Amino acid sequence: MSRAVIEARGLSVRAGDRRLLHDVTLDVPRAGVMALMGASGCGKSAFLRALNRMNETQPATVTTGSVRLEGVELYGPEVDVAALRRRVGMVFRAPQMLPGTVADNVAYGLRVRGVTDARDLDVRVERALTRAQLWSELRDRLGDDARALPEGMQQRLCVARALALDPQVLLLDEPASALDPVATARVEELIASLRGELTVVIVTHAMQQAAHVSQTTAFFHQGRLVEVGDTRVLFTRPREKATQDYLTGRFG
Ligand SMILES: Nc1ncnc2c1ncn2[C@@H]1O[C@H](COP(=O)(O)OP(=O)(O)O)[C@@H](O)[C@H]1O
Ligand SMILES: [Mg+2]
Repeated sequence: MSRAVIEARGLSVRAGDRRLLHDVTLDVPRAGVMALMGASGCGKSAFLRALNRMNETQPATVTTGSVRLEGVELYGPEVDVAALRRRVGMVFRAPQMLPGTVADNVAYGLRVRGVTDARDLDVRVERALTRAQLWSELRDRLGDDARALPEGMQQRLCVARALALDPQVLLLDEPASALDPVATARVEELIASLRGELTVVIVTHAMQQAAHVSQTTAFFHQGRLVEVGDTRVLFTRPREKATQDYLTGRFG
């Protein structure tokens, strides 16, 4: 088994005549947490979204190059994109709660996939909430309206919803940037706990957060990958000037 679960090769993303991402070659290590960093607009989200073919939900977006997941090309003509998005789950900046209860939200993807047995759903909902460190808080509130929960809890519920589908990879796009420090800490704790279980790729602007949750950091600048390496090494001894400037706060 290769150490990389995802291998991006010469990956470029355009939207109309705008270049979002240019010629990125990057391996995502298995069962670890990789942070994507860089100034706003540098292509972090475009890269993240290329990993489960979300860019193509935007009009006029063209992706070239290759992304392999466990050695299998994601941009091949035969790929079942819905199935891919279950294997490579995603959580966005703002919690996306669906109408309905806590349990409905966690079970949503399972129902879409055709799981209908109530007992089976209960077991999977409990397991997902446990992995998302929410079971003790929400076990007596499974019938509550999910949209009435505090935002930080909603965000962890989004993680639980993704985990319910047993993804191999979880993509997180600034999952804590709308949250207060206490809620942020809970989300970070959760992400750190997933290490070893599945592969996580997280976009973040916070060095502290990257240092806390990730083992590897990839730094982007103007649509290109500038450097990638061990998070601690990259933060203390960046090789490239663009990384040094970002880390010392000269832009970003
Ligand atoms: N659908 C789109 N159409 C045109 N430009 C886009 C689109 N999506 C993103 N962009 C632009 O592409 C660049 C990279 O975007 P993005 O990957 O979202 O950056 P980041 O997540 O690093 O802030 C930005 O300048 C952004 O404004
Ligand atoms: Mg972004």
